[in-house]
Amino acid sequence: MKLDVYFSTAGLAPQEVAGRPVFVVDILRATTVICAALYHGAKGIVPVASVDEATRMAQTLGPEDVILMGERNSQPIEGFPLSNSPLEVTETAVRGKTLVMSTTNGTRALLAAQGASEVYVAAAANLALAGERARQLLETGKDLVIVCAGKEGQFGLDDAYAAGRLALEAIEGRRRRKGLNDSALVAVDLARRFGKAWERPLTLSAAGRQLAKLGMGADVADAARENAYPVLPILHDRRITSAVAA
Ligand code: MLT
Repeated sequence: MKLDVYFSTAGLAPQEVAGRPVFVVDILRATTVICAALYHGAKGIVPVASVDEATRMAQTLGPEDVILMGERNSQPIEGFPLSNSPLEVTETAVRGKTLVMSTTNGTRALLAAQGASEVYVAAAANLALAGERARQLLETGKDLVIVCAGKEGQFGLDDAYAAGRLALEAIEGRRRRKGLNDSALVAVDLARRFGKAWERPLTLSAAGRQLAKLGMGADVADAARENAYPVLPILHDRRITSAVAA
C-alpha cells in the first residue's frame, strides 16, 4: 500500500502524480463548491488557471449554456456571475449549465493533478463517497495521492485535516501505516486529534478566518457539513463531471 499526501502543490512534481489516482482537496471552498454544483445538477465544471482563460474558454464552449464562476483571494471576480460560494450554486442557478471556474488555489491544484490516472474532487461534502472510492483503489493495489490545494503554496489546516479524514477512510481497518508518506502520517494524526467535527479545524484555519472576516462564515459552516453533497466529481479531459450520483 502507498498513500502520499501533499500539503500544497508547491512541492508537487508531475512524476508524483503521473499514472496514479489523485484526490484533490480544497475544502474552503473550491472542492466543496464543485460537489455542491454537480449535486444541484450542473452539467460539468471546467477548471482554468486565469480569469482571461476563463473568458476565452466560455467563448470556445459557445453554444453550451456557460456560467463564469470563481474568486481571487476569496472575493468575487468582476463580471463573473458566480463566486466560489457553495451557497450560490443552487439548483436554479446551475442546473444543466457548464461552469467555467477559476479560483486562487483550488483550480491550480486540479490542474496540477492532470497527469494522474484519475482525478477525483474531495471535500467533507462527499467524504463517504470519496472515502469509499479511495478504499477500493487501495484494495485493488493502486497507489493513492491526496493533493491539498493549501493557501498560496503553504500548508492549510483546513485541507490537511480533510486529507487526514479521507486517508483514514481509505485505510480503514488496516493496522499498518508503512505505506504512508510523512505528510500522510501527520494528516492522519491531525484528523484523530481534532476528532470527527469539521467546524473546529475549518474555523481555526487561515482560510476559515479570512472567510469569516469577509462575512462568509456561512460558507465555512456549509463546507463543514459532512456528506451534504453526495457526488463523486471526476476530472477527465479538462472537464469535471459526476462519477457517482446520490
Ligand atoms: C481557492 O481555490 O483558492 C479557494 O477555494 C479560495 C476561496 O474559497 O476563497
